[in-house]
Amino acid sequence: RKRVVVFISGGGSNMLTLAKACEAPEWPAEITCVISDKTSADGLAKAEALGIPTKVFERKAFASKAEHEEAILAALAEIGPDIICLAGYMRLLSADFTRRHEGNILNIHPSLLPLFPGLHTHQRAIDAGMKIAGCTVHYVTEGMDEGPIIAQAAVPVLAQDTAETLATRILTVEHQLYPLALKLVAEGKVRMEDRRAVTTPGAATALAEQ
Ligand code: GAR
Repeated sequence: RKRVVVFISGGGSNMLTLAKACEAPEWPAEITCVISDKTSADGLAKAEALGIPTKVFERKAFASKAEHEEAILAALAEIGPDIICLAGYMRLLSADFTRRHEGNILNIHPSLLPLFPGLHTHQRAIDAGMKIAGCTVHYVTEGMDEGPIIAQAAVPVLAQDTAETLATRILTVEHQLYPLALKLVAEGKVRMEDRRAVTTPGAATALAEQ
């Protein structure tokens, strides 16, 4: 089973769905550690309740972004993950960091990338008059929310939507999409090659049908 470390900053609902999916027999991945940049992240208690080890690296405990990342990289070197899943980790990883784990870092973002990278995604989709919105699982490269796309799921934007109601609707499909994308990556059915996500035909069908 592939060893997965999940990075969180907040509620950790995506981390929880990944962890629950990994409890299925024959699942090709297991969560070996949850890393947070916030002591206050609610997801930490959720991970601990499942018996998953956690580590916290508060940014303010380190003098610089580089030192913060060095500490996280040192922890990762000990854990030896095959795959890192960013799940609501609200910090941009440096090029140095992403290169060290190139092709093995996934992120979920609550928009149909390349539209609306960065913050306030849901409000920006509403303000743009979008009639559909959704989420994207992609490989993490050095730019924010811009690595090769692995999978996407769409939902309607309703006339009365607020950022909160849209976020809730998108989160529901995030919880379906991220475990499936992780499974396919863990099985080697999706991989990053020449800065593209290469998907085997059967896996492409699974993603299209989710
Ligand atoms: C999710 O909607 C995730 O896509 C988003 O934060 C939320 C975290 O929720 N991530 C980003 O905006 C990253 N740019 P969770 O902590 O309950 O999984």
